[in-house]
Amino acid sequence: MNDSDEGLLKPGIEKYALDHTSDEMPVLAKLSRATHLRTHQPQMLSGHLQGAFLQMLSHMIQPAAILEIGTFTGYSAICLAQGLKPGGMLHTIDCNPEMDDFTKPYFEEAGLTDKICMYTGNAIEIITQLEGPFDLVFIDADKENYCHYFEMVLPKVSAGGYILADNTLWYGRVVLPGAESDRESLGIIRFNKFVQQHPDVDNVLLPVRDGITIIRKKTR
Ligand SMILES: C[S@@+](CC[C@H](N)C(=O)[O-])C[C@H]1O[C@@H](n2cnc3c(N)ncnc32)[C@H](O)[C@@H]1O
Repeated sequence: MNDSDEGLLKPGIEKYALDHTSDEMPVLAKLSRATHLRTHQPQMLSGHLQGAFLQMLSHMIQPAAILEIGTFTGYSAICLAQGLKPGGMLHTIDCNPEMDDFTKPYFEEAGLTDKICMYTGNAIEIITQLEGPFDLVFIDADKENYCHYFEMVLPKVSAGGYILADNTLWYGRVVLPGAESDRESLGIIRFNKFVQQHPDVDNVLLPVRDGITIIRKKTR
């Protein structure tokens, strides 16, 4: 194994990054604990470092409207909502009906009840009912549908607006031989190629946590 085969983060580097990142908001720390205690797949939660990154991006973009595909327990929704313009709204979709009740107390504690609108159901159906325009979209649901979500939301993104996609390195499987034989890896590999070749966007795939792609819709 040579240097380029090793993971980006040497042991201890993620901890060092966290130790030198603004503290996690108390409501997010509480939500993270509850997610680890009460859900079967707590690793789906964005977590402190990625959450701080989402929060920072949202503050930079200052969106009036955000769409999130994949709420889970609401961690990333709370982070993204921090950058909303006054009067702005975050729309978030999850197919798991248990998430609505789980998230409510935390959205309330974060003072976001009036700024977050939650939809329960299949994102493919719900997105068709939402008009936009959205200044920021976060794609973080089933990997097989990433291309589909991208094509559905792009016309609803404002010119110069952004789409973020999570897990675009998919535990590093994207570079493993034979990765295309499993549906989720194939979904991510297809998405990464599709976005990079799409004439209406610019993008950068950052090796942060499990890979986050930042996509900007061109203004022309
Ligand atoms: C990785 S988790 C989202 C994590 C969350 N964004 C965060 O960072 O804390 C993915 C979520 O997508 C939801 N999901 C999967 N397929 C979906 C679909 N077709 N429509 C809506 N939600 C879906 C799952 O129920 C799950 O809660």
